[in-house]
Amino acid sequence: MTDKQSDKTDVDHKDPATRVLSLISHKIKTPLSIINGYAEAILSQTKPGELSSFASKALLDINKQGEKLSVLVDKLVRFSSVSSLAKDAVKKDMMKVRPVFSSVSGKCVMRDDSLNIMSSDMTIRFQGPAIEIKCDPDTEIYADKALVSIAVEELMDNAVKFNNNAPKKIRLFYYEEEDRDVLAVADNGVGIKEEHINKIFEKFYQIDDFFTGQIEGWGLGLALVKRIMSLHGGTISVRSQYGVGTIISLRFPKHGALQKQA
Ligand SMILES: Nc1ncnc2c1ncn2[C@@H]1O[C@H](COP(=O)(O)OP(=O)(O)OP(=O)(O)O)[C@@H](O)[C@H]1O
Ligand SMILES: [Mg+2]
Repeated sequence: MTDKQSDKTDVDHKDPATRVLSLISHKIKTPLSIINGYAEAILSQTKPGELSSFASKALLDINKQGEKLSVLVDKLVRFSSVSSLAKDAVKKDMMKVRPVFSSVSGKCVMRDDSLNIMSSDMTIRFQGPAIEIKCDPDTEIYADKALVSIAVEELMDNAVKFNNNAPKKIRLFYYEEEDRDVLAVADNGVGIKEEHINKIFEKFYQIDDFFTGQIEGWGLGLALVKRIMSLHGGTISVRSQYGVGTIISLRFPKHGALQKQA
């Protein structure tokens, strides 16, 4: 197992590059939503046979690729807005962990269309990820619920995306350390080689062993999670074994622990 703890924070709000990202993504969003909207409207309003098969296929592709681009742009917007958030803008409160685990995993399962399996009777069967949540319903941590949801969603998305198993097994769990609450996401996916472990929290870093540039996403998710942890005075760490799986843990100081440290 390779184990890397990332304690250093990456305070880059007001960073000019982040401002440019924010500007670009907002400029792209409006025309993109118009393109997607028209493609969807034509598809939903035309009667069968009205369009040639070429035109139907082209529209479906425009719609699908447009949606993908839209997800990428939303991610840029999310990244730039969290990056420019100041520490005192974080709305920390006691929040329940289990509902976050449940709603985020529901969302990620819906998005995972990679495992449509042809069964023996030639029907397509969806074999979604097997998700296990281990967290008491009353467990609470002191954190900003919206930001925690974003962080868990990014980890969960990775656990689903970098995983070719059937079924994909993903575990979301909570445990306590002396003065910290730990949320973790474990998967049985492709794992991460030791030489990449130090770099995966860098902005735009993606492991692309074949240099194809084809991995979906920006390589921003973990940089975003690291920023969220820094805003909470917490840390992110990764343990991974190539070919076996990965566990990413988020450590939040318990309520009052930060004041005690100061
Ligand atoms: N659970 C995981 N298993 C295997 N590899 C992972 C896992 N999580 C992250 N990685 C590796 O770390 C890289 C960086 O992750 P990160 O979430 O920042 O970017 P991304 O998922 O590629 O893109 P984005 O999050 O912007 O959509 C990934 O491209 C992947 O190579
Ligand atoms: Mg990601």
